[in-house]
Amino acid sequence: MPIVTNARVLFNDVPKGYPEPGRTTVYDTSLEIDVEKTLPDGGFLIKTLVLAIDPYMRHRMRDRTVKSYMPAFERGQPLENFGVGVVLRSEHSSVSAGDHLYGLFPFQEYFVSKDPGPFRVLDNKEHLPWSTYVGVCGMPGQTAHHGWREYARPKKGDVVFVTAGAGTVGATVIQLAKMQGLKVIASVGSEEKVSFISSIGANVAFNYKTDSTLDILEKEGPINMHVPSSSGESLEAALETAAVDACFIECGMISGYNEEPYYVKNLDRIFKQGIQLCGFAVLRLQKWDDEFYKTIPGMVSRGEIQYSENVKRGLEHVGQAILDVQVGRNKGRTVILVQDE
Ligand SMILES: NC(=O)c1ccc[n+]([C@@H]2O[C@H](COP(=O)([O-])OP(=O)(O)OC[C@H]3O[C@@H](n4cnc5c(N)ncnc54)[C@H](OP(=O)(O)O)[C@@H]3O)[C@@H](O)[C@H]2O)c1
Repeated sequence: MPIVTNARVLFNDVPKGYPEPGRTTVYDTSLEIDVEKTLPDGGFLIKTLVLAIDPYMRHRMRDRTVKSYMPAFERGQPLENFGVGVVLRSEHSSVSAGDHLYGLFPFQEYFVSKDPGPFRVLDNKEHLPWSTYVGVCGMPGQTAHHGWREYARPKKGDVVFVTAGAGTVGATVIQLAKMQGLKVIASVGSEEKVSFISSIGANVAFNYKTDSTLDILEKEGPINMHVPSSSGESLEAALETAAVDACFIECGMISGYNEEPYYVKNLDRIFKQGIQLCGFAVLRLQKWDDEFYKTIPGMVSRGEIQYSENVKRGLEHVGQAILDVQVGRNKGRTVILVQDE
C-alpha cells in the first residue's frame, strides 16, 4: 500500500453548551503514513476499524484544569474513546499481527502503541460484527451488566424504572430485568424509540417528552429499582414513587452534560424510604469483565440480547455524531466505521 492519509479528529475547543462540529472538534487530514514501512519501534501498529461515540465524551470536552473521574481531552490532540482495531505489524512479544484489540483508541486511522496493557485481545468466536464490541459487547453493555450484577437485588414482583431506554445501557438493562421476570417501566424521547423498547420487552414504554414521568410512575409503580439516569426530573419522579428499600443504580445524568443541571428537590425521600443510592463508573467494576465476556457475546449471537446501532462510515462524521448523541437523535449505539479490515 502506498503512502496514505492518516485522518484524525482533534479536540479543538471547549463547547459552550452543546458541542459544535467543526469548532469544538476538527476533522484533520494533514498526516500521512506509509503503512508498509512504518516501524512499530518495539510496539505495534494498529489499523482502527470502529470507534464508539459515547455520551460521556462531552464530559471530557472540558478545560483541563477541571478535575474529574476521566481526564479532559487535550486541545490539538485526537479525541479518545473505545474502539476496535487490527494489528498490522508487531515488535512486541505479547501482541501478534492479525490480533483484534479493544480498548481506548485515539480518533486516528492508524497509530503505534508500545503498551498492550490497556488493550484486550478479542477472540470473537461468535463472529459478531466488530461494532458490537464497542456497544452491547463493550463498555456500555458492561455498564448495564456490571451495574446490575454489583447492585441489583431483584425480587419476585419488583418493578424497575429504566431511563434512556433505547440506548445500549438502557436497552440491555431492560432485557436483563425481563430475564429475571421483573416488570419494566422505561422512558425514551421519541415514538420510534417507544416502539423499539416495547419490542425488547418493556411492559410500560413511554415518551417522557409527551407524557408525565411522575403520572406514569404513580400509576405503574411504586418502583423498587431505578437505572441508569438521564435527567434530574426523572430522578425526582423516581424518588417520589420509590418503594421502601428501593435501590437506585445511577450511572449518568446526560441532561446536565450540556445545560445547567436540574437540582432534585426531594432528596429527603432517600431516608424516608430507606433508598439505597448506588452510583458507579464502569471502569471501577472491572472485576465483572471476565463473566461479561464469557456470557454476553454468546447471548447476543443467539439473539437473547438484542441491540440497535446507528452506524456512520468515516471519521469526518464524528463531530456531528457527538452532537446527535447529546441531543438524542441517535437510536442505540452510535458507531463510526473508520475503515474496512
Ligand atoms: N457510569 C458509567 O460508567 C457509564 C458508562 C456508560 C454510559 N453511562 C451513562 O448511561 C447513560 C446512557 O448511555 P448510553 O451509552 O446507553 O447512551 P444513549 O442512551 O445511547 O444516548 C444518550 C441518550 O440520552 C437521552 N438524552 C439526551 N438528552 C437528554 C435529556 N436532556 N434528558 C433525558 N434524556 C436525554 C437521549 O435519548 P432519548 O431520546 O431517549 O432522550 C440519548 O439518545 C448516559 O447518561 C451515559 O452517560 C455511564
